[in-house]
Amino acid sequence: MNGNLLVIHADELATNRGFQARGVKAMNDLQIVRDGAVCIENGIITAVGETAAVMAAVDRQAFTVIDASGKAVLPGFVDSHTHFIFGGYRADEFAWRLQGMSYMDIMARGGGIASTVDATRQADLASLVRTGRQRLDAMLAFGVTTVEGKSGYGLDRDTEIRQLEAMAILEREHPLDIVATFLGAHAVPREFRDRAEAYLDFIMAEVLPRVAERRLAEFCDIFCEDQVFSIDQSRRLLHHAKTLGLKLTLHADEIVPLGGTELAVELGAVSADHLLHASDDGIRGMAKAGVVAALLPLTAFGLKEPYARGREMIDQGCAVALATDLNPGSCFSNSVPLLMALATLYMGLTPEEALTAITLNGAAAVGRADRVGSLEPGKQGDVVILAYPSYRFMPYHMGVNTVESVIKKGRLVFDQRQGGVIHAC
Ligand code: NIG
Ligand code: FE
Repeated sequence: MNGNLLVIHADELATNRGFQARGVKAMNDLQIVRDGAVCIENGIITAVGETAAVMAAVDRQAFTVIDASGKAVLPGFVDSHTHFIFGGYRADEFAWRLQGMSYMDIMARGGGIASTVDATRQADLASLVRTGRQRLDAMLAFGVTTVEGKSGYGLDRDTEIRQLEAMAILEREHPLDIVATFLGAHAVPREFRDRAEAYLDFIMAEVLPRVAERRLAEFCDIFCEDQVFSIDQSRRLLHHAKTLGLKLTLHADEIVPLGGTELAVELGAVSADHLLHASDDGIRGMAKAGVVAALLPLTAFGLKEPYARGREMIDQGCAVALATDLNPGSCFSNSVPLLMALATLYMGLTPEEALTAITLNGAAAVGRADRVGSLEPGKQGDVVILAYPSYRFMPYHMGVNTVESVIKKGRLVFDQRQGGVIHAC
């Protein structure tokens, strides 16, 4: 296949046209076409509309044709917050949490992120690439065509860079597009215990310049949290990262209300993520400044924490994105349908808003709304076809994968009926 593809006769073609994040009522407007078609040439969308109109304008012989009768056709999903490159697992911690230990208790005892840091430092590049590839395949099966991935399990120069190199390799060899984020400030490593400032000095002198010079990351992130990095420390690192040309994102107000949301607004971050305890001022600020509110309800679910105030954020004018937060600790799940079920059932989003949040607004959260997140001419031919006639089946069929096939840049890369992932790229 050459990236020339026609999808025709979709019962419901949710185009979600737009080149920037949407807030308020617009998140509900999916701009659906009935009996819809998408035409992709050389990997880029060239026409979208009713099947008859699209077909009248093209030479059918030049295309691979997929008949989507009885199916919903959607933009490829953008998972804008994950930690998918890591060594080891933490199934034991899940059991400890069930017995009443909190995420922060476990972290304070040297478990949590530190335990994954030990395993990731021991993992060589080949094994990080191998496990990363498996996780990308699993994402693709859920319709994810663009994913953000973070470092943050090295907390030393070489391992942080190795995580980013693993993503660079996977970006070249796997069909998914990967947006890499430097999260060297994910925790204070043992070597710097009680010396967070010194650790930040080390990152800023030894790691970040190399990351920026080799363009190994597009974004810089920090775990801005009580007992991890303070507001002032976060400001210092992020401000420096910005001067090196990185875009900004933050783990903000996840466990306690610290003011990370306001900091994201102050620094002009592209997104602020988690936001379980975002303040009213922070929410208003995000709406005004156009900071995407990236909500991660699978994590709240997994940690038994209260959900972020998604409904209120949208009503206040925020552009809300939804992402999985896939990681080995707080949230070992990359289930897009479960994410959508939680967002609709517990955060008050409509199914339409949830779809916008995982497509166009997810794209905006990683600075790529100019390329992906909707079906319209000029964007990449990244398309999801469901086995059901409506996107509404995604939250409704709770936690069950309704994706039948996935097209990346005009090529079929996943087809449930052909046994799953096809590495055609
Ligand atoms: O987004 N909160 C910090 N980082 C991750 C969890 C990482 C881990 O527990 O390994 C999160 O929840
Ligand atoms: Fe995270």
